[in-house]
Amino acid sequence: MPAIDPAHIPAKLFPVIDALCTTGAEVSRIIARGPLGQALGAGVGENSDGDQQKALDVLADEMFEAGLRGAGVRFYASEEQEEVLSLVPGGRYAVAADPLDGSSNIDVNVTIGTIFSVFEAKEGADESFLRPASEQVAAGYIAYGPQCLLAVTFGDGTQLYVLDPDTGAFALAEEKMALPEAASEFSINASNRRHWTAPVLAYVEENEAGIEGAKGKNMNFRWVGSLVAETHRILTRGGTFLYPSDARSGYEAGRLRMVYEVAPMAFLVEQAGGLATDGVTPILSLSAEKLHERRPFVFGSRQEVERIRKLHD
Ligand code: AHG
Ligand code: MN
Ligand code: MN
Repeated sequence: MPAIDPAHIPAKLFPVIDALCTTGAEVSRIIARGPLGQALGAGVGENSDGDQQKALDVLADEMFEAGLRGAGVRFYASEEQEEVLSLVPGGRYAVAADPLDGSSNIDVNVTIGTIFSVFEAKEGADESFLRPASEQVAAGYIAYGPQCLLAVTFGDGTQLYVLDPDTGAFALAEEKMALPEAASEFSINASNRRHWTAPVLAYVEENEAGIEGAKGKNMNFRWVGSLVAETHRILTRGGTFLYPSDARSGYEAGRLRMVYEVAPMAFLVEQAGGLATDGVTPILSLSAEKLHERRPFVFGSRQEVERIRKLHD
């Protein structure tokens, strides 16, 4: 039985999406057992970027690698692997993934997720991923939260699926998500305020001034610490997300990775009617030059993302 309703999925991509859903459903069962199972949040090492790896980061990476191999995927790029892995020679697709996003929330029962980006494979492993983000043929996330959800785009709107616990398969919940144009919430890690650039500080200050300030409207503030959870909230009820560059060493281009965090979320957001930039330039017009490179990331409701761009002028 397929792990997802095939009705709205392009036939050629179905094996890849089905494999991602099968694996995602397995990962969600492991997460659901929490401390009854293995110590998912235990530190087990460091990835090539020097980020601490937790047991679930490594486990999820192994599971998605195996699932994608079974689906005939040619190249697999992962946050947890320094180099692109060659899986199946002659395979049609190249898949990049953040197998487990929101690692700091593993042990506290807060939504975490998997992010993926799909390209048509080229001859070379690296060149399959180091290309314009607009060339993605699919992108999505699986959110492991109160519901296990899949948001996915194939370039014709953003679809939402829910993992039905009764059938074990992802069922369509919304054929075209619509990200509201106006926002009343914004998200940024406020502990970095002293390191921000002037435009970012100006945006946050105008939000804080609320109805008394130039914006003339009160804005609520949220920070979950899982990009998947923030993106899902913003796709659902609008808002803005910022992980900008700041003055800390190592944060010259923000924190989030272009290939398997920023590019796929940008594709999903724009397909739902929102905007995604690096503060100024649309993400989908940009290419990655290195597999693990970071990119400042601003996305959400159109009016707000445009306002943030103006503040950069
Ligand atoms: P990951 O768990 O894959 O390393 O990603 C964490 C990311 C993202 O989910 C979140 O938006 C951001 O890092 C949180 O960063 P801060 O801890 O700097 O707030
Ligand atoms: Mn992540
Ligand atoms: Mn991760």
